[in-house]
Amino acid sequence: MCGIVGYIGEKQAAPILLDGLARLEYRGYDSAGVAVYHDGKIEMVKASGRLSVVADMTDNGKSLKGTVGIGHTRWATHGSPTDVNAHPHFNEKESIVVVHNGIIENFQRLKSILMGYGYAFLSDTDTEVIAHLLDFYYKGNPLDAISKAMQRMEGSYALGIIFKEFPDNLFAVRKDSPLIVGKTSDGSILASDVPAILNYTRDVYYIENEEIVRMSASSMEFFNIDEKELIKEPVHINWDADAAEKGGYEFFMLKEINEQPKAVSDTFSPRIKNDIVDIEDLNLSDEEIRNINKLHVVACGSAWHTGMTAKYIYEGLAGIPVEVDLASEFRYRDPILPEGTLLIIISQSGETADSLAALRLAKKKGIKVLAIVNVVGSSIAREADIVFYTMAGPEIAVATTKAYSCQLIAHYLLAMKFAHVRGKISDVELKEMISAMRELPGKINTLIGEKERIQRFANRYLAAKDVFFMGRGIDYAISLEGSLKLKEISYIHSDAYAAGELKHGTISLIEDGSLVIAILTQKDLYAKTVSNIVEVKSRKAFVMVVTNESNKEAESVADYMVYIPETNKYFANSLAIIPLQLLAYYISLGKGLDVDKPRNLAKSVTVE
Ligand code: F6R
Repeated sequence: MCGIVGYIGEKQAAPILLDGLARLEYRGYDSAGVAVYHDGKIEMVKASGRLSVVADMTDNGKSLKGTVGIGHTRWATHGSPTDVNAHPHFNEKESIVVVHNGIIENFQRLKSILMGYGYAFLSDTDTEVIAHLLDFYYKGNPLDAISKAMQRMEGSYALGIIFKEFPDNLFAVRKDSPLIVGKTSDGSILASDVPAILNYTRDVYYIENEEIVRMSASSMEFFNIDEKELIKEPVHINWDADAAEKGGYEFFMLKEINEQPKAVSDTFSPRIKNDIVDIEDLNLSDEEIRNINKLHVVACGSAWHTGMTAKYIYEGLAGIPVEVDLASEFRYRDPILPEGTLLIIISQSGETADSLAALRLAKKKGIKVLAIVNVVGSSIAREADIVFYTMAGPEIAVATTKAYSCQLIAHYLLAMKFAHVRGKISDVELKEMISAMRELPGKINTLIGEKERIQRFANRYLAAKDVFFMGRGIDYAISLEGSLKLKEISYIHSDAYAAGELKHGTISLIEDGSLVIAILTQKDLYAKTVSNIVEVKSRKAFVMVVTNESNKEAESVADYMVYIPETNKYFANSLAIIPLQLLAYYISLGKGLDVDKPRNLAKSVTVE
C-alpha cells in the first residue's frame, strides 16, 4: 500500500513528483524517494521518515535536474522502513529504476533464481527483485523486458519504470494495484491515486490489469501483456482534493470498508502455496508448533475481539488451550505463563502502550511472543520474536475495519497451520478451508453491495438510546465488535452479551422497542440463541438477526433479517461483521457525526 508518482514532460520533474507525493502523505507513510534521469544518468534520493526529509535533501526537488522521473512514498510491507528499503530501486548497473505499489508474492523464489545468476541484492524488499528481473530480460527493448517480467511476477503491482537507454519514455504497468495516467499541459503523469495528479490534470486513463503504458512528453501508448497496442478512453474526474483523498467516498471508514476484499486477499494470498499454509518466514518450526501447550492472546479493543474469535478457532480446530486477555489487565497482574506458552499480541498500529507493555512482560518471563501487526517496523513488530504482518495498508479512520478483518485472517491461517501440523485436520480438510478462504473476498464484496438496505435500516435507529448485541461462541465475539463499532462512532450506548447470560441480569434492561441484534452463524448453537431471541421478543424487543443464508429457524422470531453467504463455520466473523460495520457507519452518518474522528478517541493509543 504505497504511493507512486511519475512525470515526463517539459518541466523539471522532481518538484512535480514531490508535490504529487505530498498529496498522498495524509496516509502516514514511513519513507520516500525519487529518481530522475539527467544527462545520461539516473539520480536517486531516498530516505526513511516523512517526505520532508527527501524534500530537504533536494531543496524541494530543485537540486535534481531532469524532466523525467519517478517517486514513491512507502508503507513498508517487506523489510523495515530504512533508507535502503525505501524506493526507488535500481538494477546493479543503475540503468533501470523502479517504484512499486503492491506485493510480489513469489519474490523469494525469484530472488533466489536471480541470485543464482549472480545478481546481488541491497535491500529486503520485494521491489528490488523487479529491477533485477527487468535487467535479466532487457535486451534493448523495454516493452519486451516488462512483458517478460510480468509473466514471472505473482501478486499485485503498479510500477513506474525508467530505462536509462530510453530517457524519452516513462513506463508504467499494473496488476491488482491501482494505477492512473494522464496528459498534462506540458507532459504526461502517472500515479497510484487520484489526489497525486489533480493539480495537473482531471482527464485520466484507468489502467487495467496487465496493461502497459509507454509515455513520452507528448504521447501515451497502451499495450497488453503481449505488447499488442490498445485504445483507451480518458475519464474526467470531478472530485475535489478532499474527496480524492477519500477515493470519492464521504469518509475514510466507508473507503476502508470497501477495501476489505482486497486487504483480506492481500493478507492470505502470499501465505497459501500449493494448498498449504506457508509461514516459513516466521521461523516457527513444526516441532515448536507441536510443542505449544497453551496460547495466550493479548490485545486491546477490536484487536482483542479478534483474539476472542480466535480462541474458539485455535481450540476447536487445533486443540490448543487458549486464554485471551485485555492487555491493560494482563500487564497489572502476575499472569501464569507455563512453559510451552506462545503469547500472541495483536495490534494494528503496533504502538498501543498496553499491548507493548504486555509484550515486554511476557518476554521478561522468557515467553516467546508472536505479534500480528499491520504497521511494519512499529515498536511491537520490532520487539516481538515473530511477526505476522497483516496487509491492510494504511488505516485512517479511527474505527478499525479492514485491519480487524486482516487480523481475523492471520488467526485463521495460524490456526489452520497449527491444526495441520498437529494432525488435527487432514490435507483434504486443509484444502477445503483454503478454498473457503479464497471465496471470502467475493463474499465480503457481496455483503458490501447490500449497503443501501442496511442504510435504510440504520436510518430508523438514529435516535436509539441503547442497543444490545448477543450471540454464543464465535457469535459472541462478533457481537463484541459489532457493539464497539456502533458505540464508538454513533455515541449510542450499546453492549454485547453472551446470549446465555441475558437471563442473569441484562434482560431487565429490555423494554418495548429495544433494539436487539442477534448473531447466529454457528449452526450447533442456532436453537439455543433462538430461545434467547424468544425471551427478548416476549419483552417487546425489536430483533435484527444476522445469520447464514441456509438458516430459516430464526425467521419466524426475528423482525428484520440480514443473511450472510455460507462459509466455513470458523470464518463466519469475516462475513457477519460487514453488515454490523455498515450499520454503525450509517447510523453515525445519519446523525451527522464525524465518522472518521469520533470524539475523545485517537487512532493509536500510545499512552495508558
Ligand atoms: C476500535 C479500535 C480500537 C483498537 C485498539 C487497539 O475501532 O480501532 O479498539 O482496536 O485501540 O489498537 P491497535 O490495534 O492499534 O493496538
